[in-house]
Amino acid sequence: MKHIDIRDIMSDEQYLQKDVTVCGWVRTSRDSKNMAFAELNDGTTFKHLQIVINKKDFEGTHLKTALALGTSLKVLGTVVPSAVNKEGGVEINAKEITVLGTCPSDYPLQKKRHTMEFLRTMPQLRVRANTFNAVFHVRSTLAAAIHRYFQSNGYTYVNTPLITGSDAEGAGEMFEVTTQGYEAAKNYETADDYYAEDFFGKKAGLSVSGQLEGEVAAMAFGKIYTFGPSFRAEKSNTQRHVAEFWHVEPEIAFAELPDVLEVAEDMVKSIITETLEKCPDEMAFFDKRIEKGLLQKLDNVINNDFEVLEYTKAIELLKKAPVDFKFPVEWGIDLQTEHERYLTEKVFNKPVFVIDYPKDIKAFYMKQNADGKTVAASDLLVPGVGEIIGGSEREADYDKLVAEMNKRGMDLSSYSDYLDLRKFGSVPHGGYGLGFERMVMYTTGMQNIRDVILYPRTVGSIR
Ligand code: 4AD
Repeated sequence: MKHIDIRDIMSDEQYLQKDVTVCGWVRTSRDSKNMAFAELNDGTTFKHLQIVINKKDFEGTHLKTALALGTSLKVLGTVVPSAVNKEGGVEINAKEITVLGTCPSDYPLQKKRHTMEFLRTMPQLRVRANTFNAVFHVRSTLAAAIHRYFQSNGYTYVNTPLITGSDAEGAGEMFEVTTQGYEAAKNYETADDYYAEDFFGKKAGLSVSGQLEGEVAAMAFGKIYTFGPSFRAEKSNTQRHVAEFWHVEPEIAFAELPDVLEVAEDMVKSIITETLEKCPDEMAFFDKRIEKGLLQKLDNVINNDFEVLEYTKAIELLKKAPVDFKFPVEWGIDLQTEHERYLTEKVFNKPVFVIDYPKDIKAFYMKQNADGKTVAASDLLVPGVGEIIGGSEREADYDKLVAEMNKRGMDLSSYSDYLDLRKFGSVPHGGYGLGFERMVMYTTGMQNIRDVILYPRTVGSIR
């Protein structure tokens, strides 16, 4: 259908005083004695385009139908400077209006502000609301910025498998992948018999992380990144967990923990900067309507160094905190959201890398520090969201890695590819995983992860 995107009409002066065809959905409309007005949005920009309708030119047409909220229209008209908007802008004097699709009055997205909870009940329609238009434009811009950051810094983009035979983190949060039905399960004596008959001949699952295969690629291409979905069957029903999330995982050869932190900080700053430049209207909207002070917060993020804090120091700070935490603080605990929030929001008020965690609470592959107690791991915690990045230097020493895996009772035969990397030309290396939805939350100020993904999958809920 030949037409011009509303974003182009609004940003390109060449259309001024020209006749153009635009398409879109009616976001609001007003009908007075001689004139009617419709705000049209085609999704290409956050802004609406005003269609000015001189009613006498449309006598005998079903103008009322065309003006109904949610109706989709094709409009031919002349682009003119806005008569009312003091900041400039354009509107369209309509010459022809075609109704593409009518919209009855039971359209659920009425003019009033709906709650996020209500909107979540209709993922097929909520994306048409302003907030979601802004969220998904920012999400798309952040994704492009991530690719640009890595591509322009010499990283190779690799796609790691989504179906896997090993549980990368060893955390047992894998969704199983099977083609055998419920009935089949009853016909086998042992689990091994059952899986032997299954599609892959052994137990398989959806990958929780592309890291292990990412390391394979990094040991050949030096610097790589993945950007794809990860799946976790953790039953955390929180505002920051989904069962299917998008995961950005760079892996860097010839790198130690400080190098990994440097890349993570540089990437976060770079993608926020690009988003602020490319989505000024959306970001101004979030600042005004979703998180007051958001722009100032992001400006501080870009212009200041992130804090680097040893886990042991973090525990000392938490112990001294004048706060009654629900989860008691002891060296060795996994930091809970309340602890993370205290550190980032009350103590530092900026992003904090917590480093050198106790090895027992972290994954088997992390580089063992000389103290024998901690590993060269790091989580990046940010105010409002908590952890957005988890990463580490990897244990590159074959013997130390095998010893740790044995200690954890792991089946070494499932990890032979991974161990080979330590046998044949092992190098210091490391990387991290950024939870993409959490990055979108942090950038937009959105409070719930369910509102920054098209169709959230959470425990007990899928559609
Ligand atoms: O800290 P995690 O578990 O680290 C890894 O998966 C490593 N293999 C990464 C690496 O070193 N390559 O997960 C990384 C990030 C978390 O910081 C969080 O932002 C996000 O992934 N994440 C989730 N996001 C949404 N919902 C969930 N259920 C998530 N689980 C992890």
